[in-house]
Amino acid sequence: MKRIALLTSGGDAPGMNAAIRAVTRRAIFHGAEVCGVRRGFAGLISGDFVPLGPRDVGRILHLGGTMLGSARCAEFRGEAGVARALESLGKHGLEGLVVIGGNGSQAGSHDLTRRGFPVVGVASTIDNDLGGTDVTIGVDTALNIALEAIDRLKVTALSHERGFLVETMGRDCGYLGMMAGFAGGADVIVIPEVPSDPEAVAAELRAAYARGKSHALVVVAEGAAYNAEKLGAYFAEHRERLQFALRVTKLGHVQRGGAPTAFDRVLASRLGAAAADQLLTDQSGVLVGMQRSEITATPLGDVVGRPKSLDLEIFRLAQSLAR
Ligand code: F6P
Repeated sequence: MKRIALLTSGGDAPGMNAAIRAVTRRAIFHGAEVCGVRRGFAGLISGDFVPLGPRDVGRILHLGGTMLGSARCAEFRGEAGVARALESLGKHGLEGLVVIGGNGSQAGSHDLTRRGFPVVGVASTIDNDLGGTDVTIGVDTALNIALEAIDRLKVTALSHERGFLVETMGRDCGYLGMMAGFAGGADVIVIPEVPSDPEAVAAELRAAYARGKSHALVVVAEGAAYNAEKLGAYFAEHRERLQFALRVTKLGHVQRGGAPTAFDRVLASRLGAAAADQLLTDQSGVLVGMQRSEITATPLGDVVGRPKSLDLEIFRLAQSLAR
């Protein structure tokens, strides 16, 4: 294989640029040519390609976002979209593809693989909900951004003896909320994987105050049945009876925009290089990730459509340490 393409897709994640740099330089190290695809699968369909040399991927290691741009591409989900993508890859003499992205993006990788085109996926999403890896590129940075915000809110919560409610991203997965709540010393963590309701949250907060706490912090993952909006509205409506006022902060996309942490740069560089190695030694159809500190390659068929289940050990530990 002499010419490969590379794209980033779905929600951007800090460290994607480090992965682009690693795939490109490692592939060139192996003697291959690299073509970047702009705007993810949308660019693959429209043939929006840009040649990448070693200098083109300089000065990006420390930057969040993705120099290639990203998109969520509904058109690619249909047979016609996949066919058009294959056509444009063929037209440009591209023999393989690296897809840096999360669940939806790797479903796209799998579609191409099933049509016989060699693809290697690189696990990248701030949600950390992708199978075949313990950790995805971007989640460490997103977690640290959420934590910084939580620490700041704790300062003002302490000064005013107030209650705060912070919502983290993560789509249907509670990983970011659980870890940010644990690291930030939340009194209550609400995640989709553990059913809860406003009355239960209020009871936990009352118990915390009874134990002598003077301020409160609730961290809720956006995918929880009672997200920040619903919890906040319920607490506002029943303020007298619940005995709590919670000020709501929704962190949203702020979590995606940071400069990648050292952990994410190292992870992205290792996974990106491994993806180039896999593709150029004809071992495609896999997702490159990290499991138990080892770089691994898992068949896309074992990953796509099978979201990783959340280990609740940290959730339970957080409950006992919030006392
Ligand atoms: O998948 C990453 C993620 O940031 C989720 O945590 C969030 O629910 C979603 O993307 C937001 O998507 P968009 O950027 O398209 O609004």
